[in-house]
Amino acid sequence: MGENARDQELHHSNDALEQLATVIRLRCVECASLYPGMSQQPRYRCDCGGVLDVEAEVRYPSHHETVIQNETRDSTTSANDVSFIADTRWQRLFDERASQSLVQPNRGEEQLLDSSGVWRYRELILPVPEHCIVTRPEGNTGLYSVGRENCGKHHNGHSSLGHYAELDTFYLKHEGENPTGSFKDRGMTVGVTMANLLGARAVACASTGNTSASLASYAAQLGLPGIVFLPATNVAAGKLAQSLAYGAITVQIEGDFDDAMRLVEQVCNELGIYLLNSLNPFRIEGQKAIALELLQQLDWEAPDWLILPAGNLGNTSAIGKAFRQAHQLGLTHRMPRIASIQAAGANPFYRSFRHGFRHREQVYAQTVATAIKIGDPVSYARARQIIEQTNGVVEEVTDEEILEAKAVIDRAGIGCEPASAATLAGARKLVQKGIIKHNDMVAGILTGNLLKDTHTGIPQFKQDAAIGANIESVRTYLAGTLSF
Ligand code: F0G
Repeated sequence: MGENARDQELHHSNDALEQLATVIRLRCVECASLYPGMSQQPRYRCDCGGVLDVEAEVRYPSHHETVIQNETRDSTTSANDVSFIADTRWQRLFDERASQSLVQPNRGEEQLLDSSGVWRYRELILPVPEHCIVTRPEGNTGLYSVGRENCGKHHNGHSSLGHYAELDTFYLKHEGENPTGSFKDRGMTVGVTMANLLGARAVACASTGNTSASLASYAAQLGLPGIVFLPATNVAAGKLAQSLAYGAITVQIEGDFDDAMRLVEQVCNELGIYLLNSLNPFRIEGQKAIALELLQQLDWEAPDWLILPAGNLGNTSAIGKAFRQAHQLGLTHRMPRIASIQAAGANPFYRSFRHGFRHREQVYAQTVATAIKIGDPVSYARARQIIEQTNGVVEEVTDEEILEAKAVIDRAGIGCEPASAATLAGARKLVQKGIIKHNDMVAGILTGNLLKDTHTGIPQFKQDAAIGANIESVRTYLAGTLSF
């Protein structure tokens, strides 16, 4: 890039930073202290050590004001303090964008943003200047009807999930259908956009495998060095392969995720590397889009329950926040109750919930669901607020329950990685306990793709099981296998 182009870009991004600084701020989740939303030196924590939450002014786009008539509400609202007023103009805006969102790579910036399942909702995600946005695009993930009663024609196989959980109306949103195979892409597009805006020299994260795969991919897209800190063991092979293939600097730590998290935070502060774990509050803003897209797919009707696996608790925080904002803005008429599901061997949030969050528990984590093998979750305080505000619950499921549920999801032809199956295992357990009713409308999140981990809970192909390459051997083999 020539001197002039570089100067112009710098100027552009300084303007963008100043513009953003006027509409966002960061609030400590623990002590409510306020900090500027933007500064050249990124801030991830409050001086008290608490994590931060983005507060942004939500502004209805002015060029739509002329199209929509008979509406007198102020176009600026703080999403944090408005009470529910039915308002369909946001629905119409997002529905209009979704209807035009077929990806056509050369159709200009706005069309590309509308085709992203994150940036389609940009006014509620981050009011960042559009020319700074780094998107694949992401999102637009499938919503499967898998209940005993809402399962459609030619989807009979999917109703096995509804029968397993004993739920009549049950939806599963498959976030494994994102570009790098997990929900992390929704937060990463926002995190890497911020890195772009701030002119970061490099980006880094600690990860159980999915965040690192996503970071590696988006950093490569932008042309920035990506650095990922992984526990030396227990990262599923598919995820590790992604980080290596996308060219991230891959640091294996002799320790677990919690050790890697502690180290990456320290090294980012020391070396001025932009941290992209969900400790970074802008990641959370992107992950809110899971809930917004789910609502849109359900024609803006919130379910009674939203169930998801819980590890570092970023996703619980993001999804809860999105539902709260959607409700406050009149996008939907009610809030679902949130159910966060932990593996029994990695259950600090569940333990804290059991005693009414009297104090924060930590554990040494052990589970086959390596994605959620976390003993000291960073977003504990954010997620606790969400469980309290939504009258939610935290449940635990054993590894056996996770693997059994995974087999049900896999055999239905949907498939997911082990941690995601905690959603179905948790749904079944909460129905059995009578907390969720058989006829409640329930939505669950499958967080990662089956191909991330092709070993855990999947029958393995045996080399010595090969049969002769002749028709007789095939006939004999199938005769012993098929029942017709
Ligand atoms: N499911 C999958 C597939 C995950 O990868 C993760 C987290 C979770 C659920 C839990 O979400 O942390 O927001 O509560 N994976 C992180 C990672 C920790 O590094 O990829 P959470």
